[in-house]
Amino acid sequence: MRLIKQLLVALVIASLLEGWWSCDGCLENERNALLQLKASFDCHEYMSLCSWGLYTDDCCKWENIHCSSTTGRVSKLSIQGDYWASEWCFNASLFLPFQELTSLSLQYNYIIDCVENEDAGFERLERLSKLEFLDLEYNSFNNNNSIVSSIGHISSLKSLNLGHTGLESVTDIQG
Ligand SMILES: *[C@@H]1O[C@H](CO)[C@@H](O)[C@H](O)[C@H]1NC(C)=O
Ligand SMILES: *[C@@H]1O[C@H](CO)[C@@H](O)[C@H](O)[C@H]1NC(C)=O
Repeated sequence: MRLIKQLLVALVIASLLEGWWSCDGCLENERNALLQLKASFDCHEYMSLCSWGLYTDDCCKWENIHCSSTTGRVSKLSIQGDYWASEWCFNASLFLPFQELTSLSLQYNYIIDCVENEDAGFERLERLSKLEFLDLEYNSFNNNNSIVSSIGHISSLKSLNLGHTGLESVTDIQG
């Protein structure tokens, strides 16, 4: 009888510990990278990313972020701008900490390729070896083909959305 009681106590403690662990369940370097991403935006109240970090440290619970249930690492990330968004100097290096990322959506962000800087170009996303889905719909790239050719280097990509970017006509890099 006493043994069963001890066993039950141990079980309760174990489940409490697990709850505590998963409640803080995102990697510190990924959390910091997300906060750095947030800081690269001109935050205004309509963007969901602007609430990141306000209510919990567990970045897996932040809006529009999905973590892998096996690794606990960020696997899907969506940063949705909107009509009021201001231009965003894209810096691909900010995404490199997310090595388990499979899906990245950056719709409506007025992404501009304002980089002389080789740290920052889209081709860097090539280092995300699991990235399969990239959604850049509703960004205005000013018909800049260099963006498309850099995306062409991301060999893991299975799906690319360039709708309403002015680059629709050159999207046959898929496959
Ligand atoms: C891009 O981000 C990386 C990593 O945070 C940083 O070291 C680099 O200076 C940034 N580049 C630009 C052009 O902002
Ligand atoms: C496209 O962007 C590159 C830098 O990434 C720049 O050197 C080039 O002048 C741009 N081309 C056009 C047509 O804007």
